[in-house]
Order: sequence, then structure tokens, then C-alpha cells
Amino acid sequence: MKATSAGDGTGAAATTAAVPTARPADGGAIVIDGKAVAAKVRQSVSVLAHEFEGRFGRPPGLAVVQVGDDPASSIYVRNKRKSCQESGIASFAHDLPAGTTEAQLLALVHALNLDQRVDGILVQLPLPGRMDPNRVIDAIDPAKDVDGLHPVNVGLLAQKRPRLRPCTPYGVITLATEYGIALRGLRATVVGASNIVGRPMALELMLAGATVTVCHTGTRDLKSEVERAEVVVAAVGKPGTIPGEWIRPGAAVFDVGINRTATGKLVGDVEYESAAQRAGWITPVPGGVGPMTIAMLLSNVVAAALLRAGNQA
Ligand code: GUN
Repeated sequence: MKATSAGDGTGAAATTAAVPTARPADGGAIVIDGKAVAAKVRQSVSVLAHEFEGRFGRPPGLAVVQVGDDPASSIYVRNKRKSCQESGIASFAHDLPAGTTEAQLLALVHALNLDQRVDGILVQLPLPGRMDPNRVIDAIDPAKDVDGLHPVNVGLLAQKRPRLRPCTPYGVITLATEYGIALRGLRATVVGASNIVGRPMALELMLAGATVTVCHTGTRDLKSEVERAEVVVAAVGKPGTIPGEWIRPGAAVFDVGINRTATGKLVGDVEYESAAQRAGWITPVPGGVGPMTIAMLLSNVVAAALLRAGNQA
């Protein structure tokens, strides 16, 4: 399989050394250590960010925009800004009041599109209900769309010429690569068809050569779609969506769900304990796919900075 950064042309996410694997004594699944892989990606981003600053006299820059003060979004946004600082990326914070109009937000996005210090623009989702997220995403310069959600970037991925890749699906592919899971030819089932995860995940898996099924609310027999999958990606946001006994023995299971139970515990969409008895590889929650999302965002910021610098040269 190709390097982690396959196709983006920048090498921003490239990693080299093998990540240690943890196979439980009972012979269950290899537990995929997302924290370790994310740390490797961030290390390589940091090297590239400092090289960029040396060459161009400024660090790569990310503008993170939050509208309102949704507590969960505030935590994510704080983590993104802190991670930038740790990686040698300049962070530009834009905290807009809950009463901001869509026109005001669009005006900010237009200003950030023109700001030469800004290589990446991230507008934290969800936006307040009166705003149309599609209009906001469409307004971001595709060259600065480090979320990889602009139709131009999703379209390029669909046409097998990825540029800025949606962070969470790109993170799943990076985990598979790091653990030597050769996706080409495998039967993959994606559960969930959202614009942020499920749909671009299907495109990433196709790019990697898998045979892909996408399940959604219209799927008639989810169990049978999961049972024949050699790769399962769960991105529903509902605990217990995938019982462990549905997992095909030896399958690679990537759980994107992050759900908080009544007792305050974080769990994924897959029943972890029973699935880990059958799977070949499995991502835990927390500590699996979650840490990769920010790592790939940082990787995309460096990729965007290099692409923009190349285009200006
Ligand atoms: N909210 C939850 N996940 C994401 C993400 O990946 N990008 C943005 N912009 N908002 C999010």
C-alpha cells in the first residue's frame, strides 16, 4: 500500500516507523492505537510546518470560526487551536456571538479567503439552525477548505484525484495504512451516510480499492450488510448500532461514533467487547478514530499551505 499521504502530493501526512500493536492475550483483535498514530502524524506535520516557516517567512495559518457557545463545539474548537500551537501552525480565532447573521458569517469567510496569512478555514459545525451550512461551506475558497467538505474537494476525491481530504475518513485510511491493512479488494461496509463522514468515507475506501456498500436509514437488512464486510466503518452516532456478533471473524472495525452514555462513559456505535472477540483489528472509543480527526486537519493545513505556496510561485 502507498504512503499515508497517497494522492495529496504534499507528503504532509507521511509517516515512516511502525506503530506498536497491542494484541490481547486471549487472541482477540489488534487494538488500533489512534493516539499513537495521531502523535506520529502530528510530529511529521510539525516538521513540515517549521520547514514551511523557514522557506516562506511565516507559519502555515488556520482560522477556526465558531458561532455561539455550544459546549461540545467549544471543546473541539479549543483542542484545534491548542493543537495548532503545538504543531507550529498559526491559529486565528474568530468567536462570533450566537446572534450572528448568516450574512455576517459569509462576510467573515470572504475576508478570510483573501487573508494571505490564512491557509485553512474551518467553520465549526453544527451552525445555529437558521443558517444553511451548505451556503457557508460553499463560500470557503476550496484551496483553503481544510475540512475537505467543499463540493470541489469532495468532487476531486470522487474522481480519484484527492486534494484536501475530509479529515475523519482520511484518518481512518491513515490508520488502516499504518496497521498494514491492505484495503484493495476487500468488502467494506460503511454504516451512516453523512456528508462529513459516511459519504466521503465511501469515496476514500473506493480510492483505496475496496468494494464498498453504504448503509443508511433506508437500508433493509443492516445485519447482513455488516456480516459480509471485511472492513466495517460505523458512523451513526448511536451506541449499540452494531452488535459484536454481526462482525465477521477477522474483520477490521473502525468506530467513528463518540456517544456519551447515561453514566457519562464514552462509547462508540459498535458493541466493543463482543466485537473485539471476533474482529482482526478494532478501534477503541475513545482513543481510536477520534484523535486522528485533528491530526488530519493539521496535516491538511500544511498541505493547503504548500499547495497555495506552489500555486503562487
Ligand atoms: N463538527 C464535528 N465534526 C466536525 C468537522 O470535522 N469539521 C467541522 N467544521 N465541524 C465539525
